[in-house]
Amino acid sequence: MTSTAGVVVVGGGQAGFSVVSALRGAGYDGPVTVLADERHLPYQRPPLSKKAHTGPDGLRVDLVPESFYRERDIDLRLGDDVIALDRTARTVITRTGTRVPYDHLVLATGARNRPLPVPGAELAGVHALRSLDDALAIGRALSTARAVVVVGGGFIGLELAQVAAARGAHVTVVELADRLLSRAVSAQLQQHLRERHERSGVRILTGTAVQSVEGSEGRVRQVVTDRGTLPADLVVYGIGAAPRDELARDAGLAVDDGVIVDERLRSISDPRISAVGDCARHPHPHAAGLVRLESVQNATDQGVLVGRRIAGASEPYASLPWFWSDQGDIKLQIAGLRAPADAVHLVAGDSPERLAAYAFRDDRLVAVETLNWPAEHLAARRLLGRDTPVRAADLAGSTLGALARARRATEVRT
Ligand code: NAI
Repeated sequence: MTSTAGVVVVGGGQAGFSVVSALRGAGYDGPVTVLADERHLPYQRPPLSKKAHTGPDGLRVDLVPESFYRERDIDLRLGDDVIALDRTARTVITRTGTRVPYDHLVLATGARNRPLPVPGAELAGVHALRSLDDALAIGRALSTARAVVVVGGGFIGLELAQVAAARGAHVTVVELADRLLSRAVSAQLQQHLRERHERSGVRILTGTAVQSVEGSEGRVRQVVTDRGTLPADLVVYGIGAAPRDELARDAGLAVDDGVIVDERLRSISDPRISAVGDCARHPHPHAAGLVRLESVQNATDQGVLVGRRIAGASEPYASLPWFWSDQGDIKLQIAGLRAPADAVHLVAGDSPERLAAYAFRDDRLVAVETLNWPAEHLAARRLLGRDTPVRAADLAGSTLGALARARRATEVRT
């Protein structure tokens, strides 16, 4: 199976790392090259928006030490981005002009933040958060910031709002939609989440549009919204992400808000090319159409699947999607995929901070969102996607945790 050109992975994030570590783990012994545009070793992204950034030494996020790559003969090339694919020559071309041939190419290019589309977004003190360098810059800014405006009440915004509040800043979240986290969380659960943020002292303005950012001497001073002006010495925005799929598009692969792949994560236009993680749009047994999932779980599991597949396995992608978001003391966890039309039932846990939202489609449980209730989230991950569905009646007066225990006991007996 060893061939001369081997596997080239474009992207050194969680998905790219998972591909190469799974390839070697599965015994693949051909050449393996990772081409990454950042200069840091591949690192974990989740802590960047969750930890109180205390300075350049305060974030230790490498996925593995440099020796991991050396010992496994993985050619990790940092700081040179791929600018083109030549599918006929089966070669990728980097900005510095290097041409790297492949037998199999994996696109793990991730997503990029949407830019803040208002005047003043270029002022000093206005930050986006995606990379380790962004997180370090925000951490430094937080050591002096008193008034922080967070634009976007999604995952980045709410996690960073709590980080900034914990550092003693006055924090206002400005969200364009009429509620928080509308992409990922049910309206019912988000209401409770919002109340918890507000109780912690974070001010939240929904249905509010930022019109401009204003400053003096090149530094931000205030944020102008359609409902008034907010003083700000630091602005952080997280208003969504878009897949980095332009290499694929330019090379003539099928792309539609992500590289379109089949159930084994191969491009539908070229079986020698796969796509994994935030940049891939794929079929999934839990979704009616194609989906593109932005999560560490998805990046990891898809990377592992493609690494193993290139090494000889052949299973389709079917991992249960799950997410988590630590927002100060608020722990939000999601298992499964909810659609807007699903029926949502809120259930209180046995202590005031615990709450769950069960989402049903055709009386079948399809997703579970929890606040500060990790055991219920884990039970959801055990029960969702199984052949025996969970019906609303199964949960009358019960929790998923109790149901999972009861079902396990039955399985053991039979
Ligand atoms: P997001 O999609 O979670 O949230 C974006 C929010 O910004 C939405 O609530 C949207 O309504 C709002 N918005 C859009 N345009 C706006 C505007 N002009 N003004 C104000 N609000 C506006 O995306 P986010 O938070 O930027 O995160 C980017 C990426 O990072 C996503 O892929 C996300 O999944 C990932 N991420 C995931 C985390 C996790 O899973 N815990 C943590 C941090 C980031």
